[in-house]
Amino acid sequence: MATPVLSNMPHHVAIVMDGNGRWAGKRFLPRIAGHKQGVTALRRCVKACVARGIGVLTVFAFSSENWNRPPEEVSGLIDLLARAVTSEVADLQQNGVRLHFVGDRQRLSAAMQTAFSSAEDITASNTGLVLNICFNYGGRWDIAQAAQKVADSGQAITELALDRALALAHVPDPDLFIRTGGELRISNFLLWQAAYAELHFTDKLWPEFDEGALDEAIAVFRSRERRFGQTSAQLAIQVPQHSSQPMKAV
Ligand code: IPE
Ligand code: IPE
Ligand code: MG
Repeated sequence: MATPVLSNMPHHVAIVMDGNGRWAGKRFLPRIAGHKQGVTALRRCVKACVARGIGVLTVFAFSSENWNRPPEEVSGLIDLLARAVTSEVADLQQNGVRLHFVGDRQRLSAAMQTAFSSAEDITASNTGLVLNICFNYGGRWDIAQAAQKVADSGQAITELALDRALALAHVPDPDLFIRTGGELRISNFLLWQAAYAELHFTDKLWPEFDEGALDEAIAVFRSRERRFGQTSAQLAIQVPQHSSQPMKAV
């Protein structure tokens, strides 16, 4: 048997930040207290990714389906994000982070849309970590909006055309897909882009996810053999490539 080739560091890490409500419930706190602690965990995770030279971090902050939660939780989450966008920008700027909001903005207030655009503009020339915050995002929404764009342009519906029209066209596909909170499902996150991501599920609730948990996920990722449809024997004789992703279909 060929010696497994250790994968490189993941370039793009995607995270379903789940478990805020349970974290709060265990402490007899309101769910929104868990979401607040979730913002702290995200701040910590961003810094840890910067320190480890990760290229892209994409996080799931609010799904298309999360509108179905009780109205006070939905408005609490929106307020929390609106406040975080303003208060965190200076820190992100200092860390060289380039911010993108990914998702359908049409349902958001004009003030929120302006706050998103202004945070993106302020950080647009940063060259460090790319941070994608998926808010009112769903993988199915993304594929449908991309298909509509391609159809409107009159192009043929090819993988490449769709790929370029997707909301995450500015970054390569995720290498490592982490879900905290113990659920073993994707919940409509990155349906297209996670085709060859390595999946890592942890029981840790998102507010508890710290540097050690990130390092563990990275270590698990590095122990995996990514074959992209090939055999182990083929990989053993290949010259290592700079990119950890296979060539995209044209
Ligand atoms: C994830 O935590 C945050 C959002 C979905 C906005 P949850 O709020 O889903 O926490 P649990 O799963 O109920 O513990
Ligand atoms: C997924 O978590 C969405 C986010 C983390 C933003 P959910 O808590 O909404 O997922 P389900 O409902 O358990 O699948
Ligand atoms: Mg949840």
